[in-house]
Amino acid sequence: MQAWRVHRNGEPSEVMELEETDRPTPGGGQVLLRVRAANINFPDALLCRGQYQVRPPLPFTPGVEICGETEDGRRVLATPALPEGGFAEYVVAEEAALLPAPDALDDAEAAALHIGYQTGWFGLHRRAHLRAGETLLVHAAAGGVGSAAVQLGKAAGATVIGVVGGPEKAAIARELGCDLVIDRRSEDIVAVVKEATGGRGADVVYDPVGGDAYAKSVKCIAFEGRVVVVGFASGSIPAPGLNHALVKNYSIAGLHWGLYNTKDPAAVRACHDELTKLAAQGVIKPLISERVPMEEAARAVQRVADGTSTGRIIVLPSGGAR
Ligand SMILES: NC(=O)c1ccc[n+]([C@@H]2O[C@H](COP(=O)([O-])OP(=O)(O)OC[C@H]3O[C@@H](n4cnc5c(N)ncnc54)[C@H](OP(=O)(O)O)[C@@H]3O)[C@@H](O)[C@H]2O)c1
Repeated sequence: MQAWRVHRNGEPSEVMELEETDRPTPGGGQVLLRVRAANINFPDALLCRGQYQVRPPLPFTPGVEICGETEDGRRVLATPALPEGGFAEYVVAEEAALLPAPDALDDAEAAALHIGYQTGWFGLHRRAHLRAGETLLVHAAAGGVGSAAVQLGKAAGATVIGVVGGPEKAAIARELGCDLVIDRRSEDIVAVVKEATGGRGADVVYDPVGGDAYAKSVKCIAFEGRVVVVGFASGSIPAPGLNHALVKNYSIAGLHWGLYNTKDPAAVRACHDELTKLAAQGVIKPLISERVPMEEAARAVQRVADGTSTGRIIVLPSGGAR
């Protein structure tokens, strides 16, 4: 089968190589899946660079979420078992963790439902307890996890302010349903949020970026606000001033969604049922900006690494149906 493999760490476009390899063999409790569509996540870039919290042995295949097909023909969502990730024609995955792909979504959309939307759901509801009528500030709102958080925030009845880099992304964030969009390159995030909230600030901040995004967030967070620390796409991990959190009565909530798979797997399944319902109602729909053939995967991962992608880019291996 064809699979992209990384033999040394570095930039995705330089270190990902398309090779002919053997199909992976399922171990105990695992099943073989044909990959119908594989979603590109920022962590794929970090995996290539050797900067992710997990460092699979070299060589490895990146690709952390797919829509696949079981040997008995079921369409499922899966997180492939690294080091043999999803940018391949076949993967193995834990059978107990497979989830049914929602009928309302095509293969590419289904491949993008799991990590981004589960992260959004657990971040907004379980960590931040977002309530209807509150103001939610989402950084990288036209990106993968950001676009999911915008849709889930609207579904929860929040007023959503999206922060993006550039006018093209601003247009996408508006189409996604943001009530207000801030272009971080040309506007003052703190001033706009304060003005839009009558000086009160944002009740919940969803931050997949870190660095400057975090620093500005805590300057415009509301009394008893909650910052959900989702990621550090900027490459800069903030060192929060706890005196500042004390003085302004806000909370900083860390989120590592993957941990729920072991700490509370029933909640992950319950969340999937809820997401499936919301997808059937048309309330959420993964934003797929591009569907690329297998040969294009490395260049596409590089675009995500560079922060120039919007929504999700999906890799369709040969034989991928849609
Ligand atoms: N905590 C969890 O459990 C969890 C789960 C999934 C993902 N994550 C994290 O969430 C983050 C976003 O992942 P994603 O797949 O959805 O990626 P993404 O948001 O599609 O891409 C990253 C975005 O971050 C913004 N950005 C700002 N500075 C950047 C820089 N220096 N380099 C690259 N991007 C920059 C860009 O948007 P703008 O230009 O619009 O600002 C860019 O589009 C990642 O850090 C990922 O590791 C965490």
